[in-house]
Amino acid sequence: MQVKRNILLNPGPATTSLTVKHSLVVPDICPREAEFGEILTWITRVLPEIAHGENDYSSVLFGASGTGGLEAAISSAVPENGKLLIIENGAYGTRMVQIANTYRIPNTSYQLPYGDYPDLAEIEKIIKQDPSITHLAVVHHETTTGMLNPVQEICQIALNNSIEVIVDAMSSYAGIPINLKKWGAGYLVASSNKCIQGMPGLTFVIFKKNLLNTLQENRRSFYFDIFNQYQGFNNTGQMPFTPPVQVVYSLKQALNEYLKETEAGRWTRYQQNWHILYRGLTRLGFSFLLPIEQQSKILLAVLDPEDPSYCFQDMHDYLYNRGFTIYPGKGAKQKTFRLAIIGDLYPSDLNSFLETLETYIAVRELKL
Ligand SMILES: Cc1ncc(COP(=O)(O)O)c(C=O)c1O
Repeated sequence: MQVKRNILLNPGPATTSLTVKHSLVVPDICPREAEFGEILTWITRVLPEIAHGENDYSSVLFGASGTGGLEAAISSAVPENGKLLIIENGAYGTRMVQIANTYRIPNTSYQLPYGDYPDLAEIEKIIKQDPSITHLAVVHHETTTGMLNPVQEICQIALNNSIEVIVDAMSSYAGIPINLKKWGAGYLVASSNKCIQGMPGLTFVIFKKNLLNTLQENRRSFYFDIFNQYQGFNNTGQMPFTPPVQVVYSLKQALNEYLKETEAGRWTRYQQNWHILYRGLTRLGFSFLLPIEQQSKILLAVLDPEDPSYCFQDMHDYLYNRGFTIYPGKGAKQKTFRLAIIGDLYPSDLNSFLETLETYIAVRELKL
């Protein structure tokens, strides 16, 4: 069965392969059957391996969007007498502050304009001045701006001060190589529908196995309880609550495609795509929110053109009608729109996008 292929340049849910789309159509199965449990067992083993956390880390899946995984990590990790420091230099840092506040978890944030690079000395100072901080949360790839936060260095500072780290790697996991062993973070959260190139509906938390006792003591949420999810699955081979069955099949397919492409292969393809986009946009006259050395190189926050006739919605609609989805900005310190190259995309897709964008600029007589 052929399915129309759209080029999604929004930062996930991403363009999926035809084989991932087809993997959704499977015979009905009760998720309490052992056959289904075997798939879940395989997935939960592979997820930590992709981030080089084999042996020391386990993972749990939840039927939810990525925010659910963050809610699970934050509510399960921080004890009643703990305190969370959040690095807040984008909307997803702010989301973690909101989650902590919702659970009434004591927290403080290192707040920066969306698009400012975190100052490591400042983070160290905040930690030294407040010995009640027990946990630190940081977004790896801040999808708001396309910034790659210096997670390894931040983890180093935290670990030197006996602080456990929670990493939101929603839009980097399985795209940008991650090495949990080097980072030493306690928790890493991501979802099925971004760089994994699967369907939306599953989120997961990868966590250090030696944190299980702490997780058992800290239980705060009924559904988003890492310990309950882990123990329930270990005892029965089933997820405690109904999983999105077909999405599990498509995640299995997407993970197999990742393993076939390899970590290096995916990163190389993403880099090729990003360079085509970056060079093409530069040639057309666009400029970018972040200096190149701070960029994730999988998403570009492009500054809005100053031409008064520029209208994001008009540009979006023109491109959308031709099969390309672009994405608005999200509160960055300057007005932007965003283009991500994550997903089952290839150089020819980016070249076609640039040609269509160039035609749009010519038709509307936009000045860049
Ligand atoms: C870095 C980051 N964190 C969290 C989220 C929230 O994920 P979801 O929309 O799946 O709940 C996103 C979504 O784009 C994200 O990019």
